Amino acid sequence: MELTKEQQEMLEGKKGNAVRKSMEILCALGEIYGAKKMIPVSSVQVAGVSYDNLDDAGLEYLAELAQDGRVRVLTTLNPAGMDLMEWKKLGISDEFASKQLEVVEAFSRMGIITSCTCTPYLIGNLPRFGESVAWSESSAVTFCNSVIGAKTNREGGPSALAAALTGFTPEYGMHLEENRQAVVEVKVKTKLKGTLAFGALGEAIGKKIGDKIPLITGVKEASLEELKSLSASIATYGGTAMFYIKGITPSRTKRPQEKIEVTKDDLKAAMKEMTDDGEEVDLVGLGCPHASIREIAKVAELLRGRKVKAEFWICTARTTKELADRMGYTKAIEDTGAKIAADTCMVVAPIKSKFKVMATDSAKGCYYGRGKNKFKTKIGSVEKCIEAAVTGKWKP
Ligand code: F3S
Repeated sequence: MELTKEQQEMLEGKKGNAVRKSMEILCALGEIYGAKKMIPVSSVQVAGVSYDNLDDAGLEYLAELAQDGRVRVLTTLNPAGMDLMEWKKLGISDEFASKQLEVVEAFSRMGIITSCTCTPYLIGNLPRFGESVAWSESSAVTFCNSVIGAKTNREGGPSALAAALTGFTPEYGMHLEENRQAVVEVKVKTKLKGTLAFGALGEAIGKKIGDKIPLITGVKEASLEELKSLSASIATYGGTAMFYIKGITPSRTKRPQEKIEVTKDDLKAAMKEMTDDGEEVDLVGLGCPHASIREIAKVAELLRGRKVKAEFWICTARTTKELADRMGYTKAIEDTGAKIAADTCMVVAPIKSKFKVMATDSAKGCYYGRGKNKFKTKIGSVEKCIEAAVTGKWKP
């Protein structure tokens, strides 16, 4: 791979140890994927923030980089393992909290904005169409490529951090126009409304086409929240880092030859697959990906004057919670016994053995709730999840 003088000096250690290590990672990646050169990135989103995933080895690595590493571009963080200010209300131990705060402190020393959210585009990390960035959380990556039209590979935590510390990433994969073409047209033969329907659509498409890039046709409208939900589920169940929706997302794709259909029955089957048997619900989790202020306002309205029985988390970014505080939504929600969980979520928090059955409106939440935390899952609309929180039961 060809390096500029500046990049060569980074690799030789002339810009410090953290930059040298980072450039080594980026060069190794570039060699593996056949990149010809490095390109600048305008922003970074770093995953691998929860101490539940990092452990002491990860923390040591971050502490070493933080000795002389400073980010060169706007960089934000994925959710941490707890609410950084109110971890006690989520039942997080002091021991875990102290380790988690050390992790965040190391990121902060590097100049990273400790936003802790999987929806960086809602809190000021918003690239423009065509820009190259290095993001790592899969739903954010897919939203970035598809809805914003900026370009990013799905980075691992270390490679995203390396891009932040050098300002570069190797040019391969989703940074190249030829790899951003749709290869299969997916005709949607049913009406879609709400984040639940778009989450089920992502599950159905992902399972049919795997990681191919689809051009989705037949969808008349989609809100930001619906696109956020689709981005999460299509990446989770299929692995693609990009989709197009005709008439909705910015398009530079040709119409593909291969065609498939998604019907109402496919969506029903997806919903059924994500709902386990049984009536009891002891955890309700909304905000996967992190809730927008519009979603929080809706939950506050639906919950007003009620009391919840099950543990109920609405997960969001800290800055979105601050808006909710100002608007009185947080009080309306927390008066019912529900909790706004900022900086974290019901998947990355260390709550594996604390709950048995989680109700959610998120297809991605079901996948990881089962896989990582061994929960049984129920999927339904926000309204249905709220009923489950109030009664502690799931009504089929
Ligand atoms: Fe975000 Fe956690 Fe879901 S990181 S996408 S809320 S699993």
